[in-house]
Amino acid sequence: MTTLAPIHIPDYRDRHDRYDRFSVLLHWLMAALLIAELSLGLWMTGLPKDSSGTRAYWFNIHKSIGMTLGLLILVRLLWAFARAHVAAVPMVPLMQKMAQASHALLYLFMLLVPLSGFLGSVFSGYPIRYFGWKLPQLAARWDDAKSLMSLVHEFSVYALMLLIAVHMLAFVHHQFILKDGLIRRMY
Ligand code: HEM
Ligand code: HEM
Repeated sequence: MTTLAPIHIPDYRDRHDRYDRFSVLLHWLMAALLIAELSLGLWMTGLPKDSSGTRAYWFNIHKSIGMTLGLLILVRLLWAFARAHVAAVPMVPLMQKMAQASHALLYLFMLLVPLSGFLGSVFSGYPIRYFGWKLPQLAARWDDAKSLMSLVHEFSVYALMLLIAVHMLAFVHHQFILKDGLIRRMY
């Protein structure tokens, strides 16, 4: 009598089939902060340029949260290279490549958005405050560089929003259509 080899059906509870605790923590902390920061950025640019100081106050909060996100993405990138390999989701190779590419693009834009925001602020000539703590002036005012960085910031912000929307649609597809419990890899 022949015995069949056991088939491995991933339930994403296996250590190698899921992300480690630090990656999970960074993923959800950054997701919450990013959504708050995107909303704040879109809202604050509509504030009136008057002498009340409200606009400057919220711009400073935006810059501070944005720089925190900039530091977090550097940690996350380093960790992504250092952590143990996470087994790919069992899907056709094309889908695996698309998932990989979309994650790589998310990383790229999570880096480019705060970097362009920071450089734009450096070239604006105004001092940058990190939650009230004045940072040293890194460069003199340079209007062309500031305009270019503002443009990069704006377009990279829209690219990031699009990528996040695609990412969430992929989640909905896995959760409600494929019903493969993929979310267990990320908690
Ligand atoms: C601001 C929003 C978000 C960003 C930038 C983001 C980014 C990422 C990235 C880069 C990965 C790859 C794993 C890693 O290296 O960390 C990932 C994985 C994942 N994300 Fe998100 N994410 C966001 C929000 C969400 C939300 C709202 C959900 C679900 C409700 C979600 C569900 C997942 C799942 C299930 C995985 C694992 C996918 C896999 O195993 O291949 N993400 N996310
Ligand atoms: C992941 C982090 C960040 C996100 C998601 C983000 C998001 C946004 C959004 C949605 C806007 C409104 C659209 C636009 O006009 O570009 C905006 C504008 C702006 N952001 Fe950010 N931002 C981030 C980081 C930063 C950082 C680190 C700085 C500076 C230190 C910064 C400075 C600005 C400024 C000055 C504006 C007003 C428009 C301009 O002058 O470019 N942002 N941001």
